[in-house]
Amino acid sequence: MEFALTAKRWTEEYLEKLFKIYEGEAESIDSKLVRIVEAAKDYTLRGGKRLRAMLILAGYWSRDPGLDPEPVKYLMASIEFLQSYLLIHDDIMDRDEVRRGGPTVHVMFNRYCVNERLLGDCIHYGISQAILVGDYLNALVFTVLADLPFSHDIIVKLVKRYCEGLRAVSYGQYLDLYLAYNSISKVKEEDVLKVHELKTASYTVELPLHLGAIAANISDQRLYNVFTRFAKYAGIAFQLRDDILGLYGDPKVTGKPVGSDVREKKKTLLVIKAYEWGGSEDKRILEEIYDKKSSDEITDHDVYVVQDIVKRTGSLDYNEKLINNYYNEALKILRESSTVCDWCKNVLEWLLKKLVYRVK
Ligand code: IPE
Ligand code: IPE
Ligand code: MG
Ligand code: MG
Repeated sequence: MEFALTAKRWTEEYLEKLFKIYEGEAESIDSKLVRIVEAAKDYTLRGGKRLRAMLILAGYWSRDPGLDPEPVKYLMASIEFLQSYLLIHDDIMDRDEVRRGGPTVHVMFNRYCVNERLLGDCIHYGISQAILVGDYLNALVFTVLADLPFSHDIIVKLVKRYCEGLRAVSYGQYLDLYLAYNSISKVKEEDVLKVHELKTASYTVELPLHLGAIAANISDQRLYNVFTRFAKYAGIAFQLRDDILGLYGDPKVTGKPVGSDVREKKKTLLVIKAYEWGGSEDKRILEEIYDKKSSDEITDHDVYVVQDIVKRTGSLDYNEKLINNYYNEALKILRESSTVCDWCKNVLEWLLKKLVYRVK
């Protein structure tokens, strides 16, 4: 789709432009600091579907696709700073070593530490510097927001909305980890869906659409409500798809490992339903893996066993059906809305498909 290609091109262009400025700033303070920006830049520019940036543009043009896009291009780049920031910290929490087909930031700094024979614990060094690169990217978001060519009033609204989105992600990530450290028998479907809404739908679909609409100075609350309802279904379905790709996807295509949710005992709906619907032997095996083993003890064979149980119990089909249902709900909300322009409806229909029926 022409829209997607254009939105992606603008995002890349503005990301490059912004990284260049801050590379210069870091260099002027101390040449060693360039590595912070280099790591952020490499991680951000080497992949990423830019779906959030596209959604910002869709929100911005949700009433009038004739609005000058120039001022919103920085905002589109900034949501990808946010995405990198969240993912870098998420990779630490999830102990993932590969993302977007390359090493995660804590692994990059671990390698620098080892290769350059720095003194001390290189694992801790890698994690510490990666936390910092994430913080740096979050600072870049605020830098960009404060400098946007909008009125003071709009900028304040954007910052408030951004912070609200960030708080939702923190709540979601907290619960995601908490559930991972709890027995598989204790977690229910509604717990998982709540996590998905908070950790993913909040910042992947709802936040960008709202930021775009705020930037366009749209004050009709009905539009924001439509986006919120649409985002809930589209965003949860997006994360349900992510969980399927995390268990059965092709790492060469997704750029992410397979089975890491099992190793980290993530309570995805796939395993929760498999546990609920499994026979006593399935339940015993899942308890063995999820409740008794430590992450270090979970093997590739365990991942294979989980893949098999999830399929056999009908949980995989259930997840696919739920994705379909959520897709249809989101579509209905969009089509019934009288506040979103026809152009935007078309684009969001296309994006909705991309979000939920993706292979990477
Ligand atoms: C990954 O998001 C994190 C989740 C919320 C599942 P994406 O799948 O959009 O990742 P990129 O930006 O395309 O790499
Ligand atoms: C990522 O969720 C959500 C955020 C970054 C806030 P996951 O941990 O499930 O996503 P992936 O699979 O690592 O991309
Ligand atoms: Mg993760
Ligand atoms: Mg995670």
